[in-house]
Amino acid sequence: MSPAEAQKRIGELRREVARHDELYYRQAKPELADFDYDRLKAELAGLEKLFPEAAHAVGDDTPTARVGDDRTEGFVRVKHRQAMTTLDNTYDETELREFHARLARALGTDALAYTVEPKIDGVAVSLTFEHGRLTRAVTRGDGEEGDDVTANVRTISGLPAALKGKPLPELIEIRGEIFLREEEFRRINQLQDESGEPAYANPRNLAAGTLKQLDSRLVASRRLEIVLYGLGFCTPAVVGSQSAFHDLLVAWGLPVVSPFRLVHGIEEVWAAIQELDRLRRGLPYATDGAVVKLNAFEQQRHPKIGYRGMAADGSVEAARKLSPRWACAYKFAPDRAESRVRDITIQVGRTGALTPVAELEPVLLAGTTVKRATLHNAEEIARKDVRIGDAVLVEKAGEIIPAVVAVLLEKRAATSRPYAFPRECPVCHTAAVRGAGEVVWRCPNPRCPEKVRRRLEHFAAKGSLDIDGLGEEMVALLLERGLIQSIPDIFRLTVEDLLPLKKSGEVWARNLIAGISARRTADLWRVINGLGLPQVGAAAAKDLARTFRSLEALMAAREEDLLRIEGFGEKTAAAVLGWVAEPANRALVDELLAVGLKPTAPQATGGPLAGKTFVLTGTLPSLTREEAAAKIEAAGGKVSGSVSRKTHYVLAGEEAGSKLEKARALGVPVIDEAEFRRLLA
Ligand code: IVH
Repeated sequence: MSPAEAQKRIGELRREVARHDELYYRQAKPELADFDYDRLKAELAGLEKLFPEAAHAVGDDTPTARVGDDRTEGFVRVKHRQAMTTLDNTYDETELREFHARLARALGTDALAYTVEPKIDGVAVSLTFEHGRLTRAVTRGDGEEGDDVTANVRTISGLPAALKGKPLPELIEIRGEIFLREEEFRRINQLQDESGEPAYANPRNLAAGTLKQLDSRLVASRRLEIVLYGLGFCTPAVVGSQSAFHDLLVAWGLPVVSPFRLVHGIEEVWAAIQELDRLRRGLPYATDGAVVKLNAFEQQRHPKIGYRGMAADGSVEAARKLSPRWACAYKFAPDRAESRVRDITIQVGRTGALTPVAELEPVLLAGTTVKRATLHNAEEIARKDVRIGDAVLVEKAGEIIPAVVAVLLEKRAATSRPYAFPRECPVCHTAAVRGAGEVVWRCPNPRCPEKVRRRLEHFAAKGSLDIDGLGEEMVALLLERGLIQSIPDIFRLTVEDLLPLKKSGEVWARNLIAGISARRTADLWRVINGLGLPQVGAAAAKDLARTFRSLEALMAAREEDLLRIEGFGEKTAAAVLGWVAEPANRALVDELLAVGLKPTAPQATGGPLAGKTFVLTGTLPSLTREEAAAKIEAAGGKVSGSVSRKTHYVLAGEEAGSKLEKARALGVPVIDEAEFRRLLA
């Protein structure tokens, strides 16, 4: 490559990498698999090193000298006391061995102790504990300054608000990773699907998107988890090594990474990595590699080690810390395999959403046989230009849902044609429609048999009426025999109807009918959730139940009633009003009441704080946040994560942050603990 060619390529790569950084860190909507991104970035770094002058000619601003920036609008920015860096990574055993060789040369000994632990595919945060109390949580941001996400992080149930034991440092920054379990990712995507919203691509994007929600109530409804692994600023100093720090985190009652190994020499490092590769699929979080860290802090701080802070030409030391030379991430190459698209089929959801699915030639991938991969929507197919008959690369990496990553164009048949997304529902053949600004095509036919089937399934499902014995198969069978056609029909079923379905199934039939009958008095929120109003998941269904207390009242909802509900915006209110106004839905509710459905309203909360919404901020003199929240709830009030005009009180303690400012700006009353106790009394 000539310097001129290098210059051109460096320019292209910088724009590409910067675009993908923006998509990944800020928008949480990556288009590239990590492996491909890492490859682009490695190519750029390689060229910048080989052709420093060409790199300099393009400019000194390069993504290889930056930490991806996650800061977004709507959050208060906070400076880290100690910079949050990234990690150098490699997919190559030889490079890992070179990492060790460099450290061994610098320290003059081969006998080095390392820690080896999973690299978690989540979102990095820094927690500040002051005298053992959690006072702040900040995202990495640009490494120097991140977004204050304290209110959201406090909703994480596995994270204690205070550290156990004594003595505790005056102030300590602890770094870790926020993630979502695969089951939770699936559950939320199911809800997205049920409310007609597009699914999230992978758990990491969903975790990143959740952490940046402005409404902490929504955050609390998603079970984020956290593990901690790194030491930032600390005064006074606590321990002298990674492994001692890990033990300290455990003693303080904090969740840590596991498996965590302390090993000696590079052979043991390699063995620990192999072990992790075997175990990783059983871990609660997605891991895309192992992080190897030099154990002794004194060695980490050695003048020949420290941090990489290189400028574009690789020679000048910039003031900014980029990545530690004492740590290295060894990444596992993603599991990829070649397959062929036999067909593209369309799934019809409960709301009519038409989701394209690639039907693949079965292929073994990451221990499971993959036969199908979602293609998300019409635009996604067009972007990747996936065609029936194409040879494709299928990947199952951090992304848990198998995905078609690329089409192998060189293997494409000359006769193939671009896939034409159907303009009608594949089941009932009604013309598909698409709302303005939406990517999803939908079947608008309320009687579409597939939509009916999915609606029935949803009504009986766990998160709705939870009718035992009425799962997908039974719903399908009852439909096929013409025993049910609509939701109210479920309550009209008799033992005699069911008897022909199973040989000597009398006991079963009686149990199912008794089970259905007992659900006539199910909790109101379950019924509302089961009816599947657009934009309404379980949390919003609970709010509606609390506010309206009966189906009749819900059907008479007015806009102002809905807008008064904390967390309900105009979009949700409009969706509910639209549903309520629909004659078919009114008829459905009337029919349900006629077949004897008598949902149970939530317990009337008559406590002294009934109907009042509180926001907590800062440290209270004698109550922890959890204790204060429990007292509010026991007295009939509600705790919300963010201040709005609908907040009744902000309960503020010492070092209250942005919420206090917001309360003042909005004129929301601010009270202290003493006043709070008076309200309770
Ligand atoms: S150590 C200064 N340990 O990976 C050392 N990082 O690609 C850097 N990560 O920014 C952090 N699991 O967000 C460390 N066990 C682990 C990790 C881990 C995930 C993240 C971290 C870091 C990124 C670098």
